[in-house]
Formats: sequence, structure tokens, C-alpha cells
Amino acid sequence: MKTDLFFYTGTGNSLWTARTVANELGNAELIPMLWATGNPIQSQADTIGIIFPVHIWGLPQQVITFVNSLAIDTSKYYFALAVNAGQVAATLLQLKKLMKSRGLFLSSGFDIFMPSNYIPWGGPGPEDKRMRRINDAKKKINKISSMIAEKERRPVEKGPLWQNILFSWFYKFSFPYIPTMDKSFWVDDKCNTCSICKKICPCGNIDLNAGKPIWLHHCEQCLACIQWCPKEAIQYGKRTPRYERYHHPEVTLEDIITISRKPSRSGKEEAILQNRKSST
Ligand SMILES: Cc1cc2nc3c(=O)[nH]c(=O)nc-3n(C[C@H](O)[C@H](O)[C@H](O)COP(=O)(O)O)c2cc1C
Repeated sequence: MKTDLFFYTGTGNSLWTARTVANELGNAELIPMLWATGNPIQSQADTIGIIFPVHIWGLPQQVITFVNSLAIDTSKYYFALAVNAGQVAATLLQLKKLMKSRGLFLSSGFDIFMPSNYIPWGGPGPEDKRMRRINDAKKKINKISSMIAEKERRPVEKGPLWQNILFSWFYKFSFPYIPTMDKSFWVDDKCNTCSICKKICPCGNIDLNAGKPIWLHHCEQCLACIQWCPKEAIQYGKRTPRYERYHHPEVTLEDIITISRKPSRSGKEEAILQNRKSST
């Protein structure tokens, strides 16, 4: 079985999830969604994984764009991993519906519970609790990998009914405003003009003015800029100066910089495509 794992990530939880499942399955290639080229996007693999963070109880724009560009091939096995911080809600149902509208069948979809990167609501929580979530996620990935390898068909995982109804409404309501939610970002005087924020933004939404970031209002709210700023100089609203930053402990800034750029067929691209690092 050959598997292509298409992933999107802001702070590395989804990249780590993709690496971990690649390790379990073997013969799997990691491909950032941003790099997926071709119209439509073709794959030689017989199994396709779609791995992404849940944003505002639904699919991030980049995942929608990716699915809408995917070649229609009904002979493949499609599965998804929705990486979240405790409220997957109806995200996988949304994905299943979107895929169905394109003639694709999502055979399985799993909820992967990881630390939160949604800093406007607070930090990621105590380290022992974060590590417990990561270890539990690893156990779950180990368990579901055999279902994926067996190409099992099963209902996608979802939240309780009230959450699916209420939060799907919030998602629909807020989705059009996401690109301009970057109006709440600002930079404090710790900024040393290193320009890392511009390099890691996956949607080219950051420009520099005298070396400092300005946001261009086509944001996808992945929060990579605020979470990866080495000086913690980027803020969002009033409260983030006192909140701890988060990224997955086994994902590096270099990993994120590499995948945030469209490939140039360079050594770095090869490195990440071969990326089957252990998640130990
Ligand atoms: C804009 C935004 C919205 C989010 N909304 C949700 C949500 O609705 N439910 C949830 O459980 N987690 C939510 N999260 C948390 C992320 O899904 C979670 O931390 C995920 O593991 C981050 O993955 P990444 O590191 O690959 O970006 C949100 C995060 C962001 C940045």
C-alpha cells in the first residue's frame, strides 16, 4: 500500500500527526497541501490522507481549496485526521459532504485531540497536560493506523449533536470574516525585524514595513506568526502579552519555514518529502 499524506499546519500538531501516521503505515509520503500542484491534483498512491487543524469548528480555507482541486478517483481509499483541541464538532461531516459534492468518498475520519494553539483564548495549558494529550494522541494514531491499513469504512467521528448544530452555525457566520481577523494582530517593541513571521505565513499575508510585520487581510488564522515569533513580539488583541506561546515540541521552526514556501525542487523539498521522522 502506498499512501500520500496531504497536511496543513500552523503550529506543528498536524505535521507531527502526519509523521506519526506515516511511521505507523510505512511507505507513506508527506506532502504539504500548499505544495500540492496540478489542476487537478493527482496522486499515484492508492490511499490518500487529509490531515489538518480544526479552525472555528470547521475546515480551514486551505483544506477546502485542496479538496476542491483534488482529482476525482473513486478507486482510492480516502481518510482524514482532524487535529483539534477538544471540539472537533461537525468538521469531519463538513469534509465528507464537501468530498461527496465532488464525487469523492471519505471512508473514515478521526478526531485527534492535541494541545490548543488558539492563543486569543489563552495559553496551551500546563506542560504535563499537553504531554498527556500528545501521548494519548500517539496511542490513538497507533490504533487507527491498522484500520487505515485495512481500508476500513466507518462513520466519521463527530462531537455531540448540540455542538454540531450550534458550532456549525458559528463557523458559517464567522468564515467570511476570517481573512480580516488579522486586524487584531500587532507587534510590540521586542520585534528585532528578523522577518520570520513573513517566512512562515502559509498564505503570503505578511509584508514588512521597516522590517516589522504588517498583515494584508487575507489571513487564514493559522496563528503561525504569533506562535513562532522568536521574540514573542507579535500580539493578538489585548491579552496575548501574558499568554504562553505554543508549538509542537517535536516540530522545529525550520520545518515550518520549509513547508511554508512553495517548492523549488530543492534539497529541502526532498528532505521534507522523505520526512518519516519518528515521533518518539
Ligand atoms: C483560528 C483557530 C480556530 C480553532 N478552532 C478550534 C475549534 O473549533 N475546535 C478545536 O477543538 N480546536 C480549535 N483550534 C485549535 C487547533 O485546532 C488545535 O490546537 C490544533 O491542534 C492545531 O494544529 P496545528 O498545530 O497543526 O495548526 C483552533 C485554532 C485556531 C488557530
